Amino acid sequence: MKQLTFKNGDKLDAIGLGTWKSEKGEVTKAVKIALNNGYKHIDCAAVYGNEAEVGQAFSEVFSEGKVKREDVWVTSKLWNNAHKKEDVIPALKQTLKDLQLDYLDLYLMHWPVAFKPEVEGFPESADDYFSLDEVPLSETWGAMLEAKKKGLVKHIGVSNFSIPKLKELMADTDHAPEMNQVELHPYLQQDELLEFCSKNEIHVTGYSPLGSGDRPDGMKADDEPSLLENPTINKIAKKHGASPGQILIKWSEQRGTAVIPKSTNENRIKENLQSAGYQLDEEDLKEIADLDRHFRYVTGKFFEMDGNSYKNIYDD
Ligand code: A2P
Repeated sequence: MKQLTFKNGDKLDAIGLGTWKSEKGEVTKAVKIALNNGYKHIDCAAVYGNEAEVGQAFSEVFSEGKVKREDVWVTSKLWNNAHKKEDVIPALKQTLKDLQLDYLDLYLMHWPVAFKPEVEGFPESADDYFSLDEVPLSETWGAMLEAKKKGLVKHIGVSNFSIPKLKELMADTDHAPEMNQVELHPYLQQDELLEFCSKNEIHVTGYSPLGSGDRPDGMKADDEPSLLENPTINKIAKKHGASPGQILIKWSEQRGTAVIPKSTNENRIKENLQSAGYQLDEEDLKEIADLDRHFRYVTGKFFEMDGNSYKNIYDD
């Protein structure tokens, strides 16, 4: 499998396990299956509401001794209600406690959006938001940098950042983000963002690589296109004797990004890691390139409310 190399030499396996939408009652088992079957990259976030259950898996697997903590890359994300500088490290410490870890490999600012600290989960009114003038991205970033200096996290980055947001953050710091985690798949290929990140030595992780069919109904459009059922993806899958999911995951890995398919199903967890064993040829890549249609499954519209300052989260 491909690995992403960081400036200090640390390496990240491109294919990891996603845990967004993994039910509390299922995620401990899923993470244990993943770690016992060769996954070395687990993607988490405070807002997924299941870090304690993921932590249970880490504790069990690491105490068995076959897989060591230092051989696994754990990413987590700062939720939007902890962007004020005094709130960042306490939020990180809660994540570390839940995950039963003493450091993270990577900590990401989940969104370029700031909520008031008392908001749990998602806001109900425009008053629940700070504007980015009140709590600038640089304030949050400064505290994340502090966490890195303290050794609580090895690397820091962002998620859901557009090119303008990356530029804004980079103008205010000597420490550029090391990662940008964004939605990425054949319907949303984001060539321009990838090129910008590559030029600026920012790695990219793609989320919703399979189209996130299990997200809540409220987040779904009636007529949204299916990636797993796309005829081109299915044709290429047949040609290689792979599943459509494996083709989607391989496409991301072959492109040089990390990718974090979510599954709580034992066979699919294993199948997804085995995607690395296939190889897409020029013709496959050309056909997949033609599928781009700038379609987002995660629209970010849920942050846009009359009276708050968040409009066009992705600047596009
Ligand atoms: P399950 O957890 O039952 O395996 P995404 O990573 O884009 O958010 O997509 C996650 C969704 O895709 C979940 O519904 C998950 O279901 C399903 N899934 C995961 N792996 C595969 C696969 N290899 N083939 C088909 N569906 C998959």
